[in-house]
Amino acid sequence: MSKIEEALAKAKQTRQGEQSPIHDASMEISPAYTTVFQEVNPSVAEENRMVALSEVNTQATEQIRILRTQILQKTEGQGNNCLMITSALDGEGKSTLAANLAIAIAREVHRTVLLVDADLRRPALHELFGLKPEAGLMHYLLDHVPIEDLLIRTGVEKLTFLPAGGSLPNSTEILRSPRMQELIREVKMRYRDRYVIFDSSPLLPTADPMVLSQFMDGVILVVRAERTARSHLAEALGHLKERNVLGVVMNDQSAVDDIYSTYKYD
Ligand SMILES: Nc1ncnc2c1ncn2[C@@H]1O[C@H](COP(=O)(O)OP(=O)(O)OP(=O)(O)O)[C@@H](O)[C@H]1O
Ligand SMILES: [Mg+2]
Repeated sequence: MSKIEEALAKAKQTRQGEQSPIHDASMEISPAYTTVFQEVNPSVAEENRMVALSEVNTQATEQIRILRTQILQKTEGQGNNCLMITSALDGEGKSTLAANLAIAIAREVHRTVLLVDADLRRPALHELFGLKPEAGLMHYLLDHVPIEDLLIRTGVEKLTFLPAGGSLPNSTEILRSPRMQELIREVKMRYRDRYVIFDSSPLLPTADPMVLSQFMDGVILVVRAERTARSHLAEALGHLKERNVLGVVMNDQSAVDDIYSTYKYD
């Protein structure tokens, strides 16, 4: 039985044995990480546009570096380390950006980064990396599996990954739960002065990013060139008006001009 299977079985036993187990977060904070090691598959990652892994300098890698620098400048040293990536609608490049940004910060600035797949509607980050995680955020939230049993060391220096672990059609409620707030508190404590990047579902069709963004220090909104309508961008920004929007990233700028190939930040 793998470690995750053991943890899930234990969680099930606890649920069956007690009517309403009182959850004590302090019990879960173990001083040592026992993270699983699953290496990012380089050819799958390359196919999925993980340009920040490339050793070759291209316009796309340069744009990611510029973006990373701008974000670090806006957040460094201010404890603003929990950042969420979202967009108005689906397919605008949230997961691609979240993963590239996390890799770029971890690889080149040598900062520890935790990348969290908090898109419980359509989790994708594990696929972008070519990984097959057994469990993830969903099991932390629903089954009380301790976070250290779910984290994956990716082989990309200083990048740790918390996969979604599956999809949930009614994820808004669970993301709103005290358990999610515990997670944020816990990663902030463990990852003080480090970056935690959350991928999320789109803002207009789902309530999840509105809920998640309450707990974030900053939000980055992705728009896709030639695709995101101005009205949708305005509506998405309207949803985020109480939040700290760090910037809007124009993805796939090559669709409109060839000066910027992939990302532009404002
Ligand atoms: N700059 C880009 N140039 C070309 N293709 C891109 C670019 N950015 C993303 N894509 C592709 O567009 C598709 C959608 O990207 P991605 O999955 O990152 O979007 P998403 O906003 O996370 O989608 P979802 O809402 O489904 O979670 C993917 O196939 C991705 O490879
Ligand atoms: Mg996505």
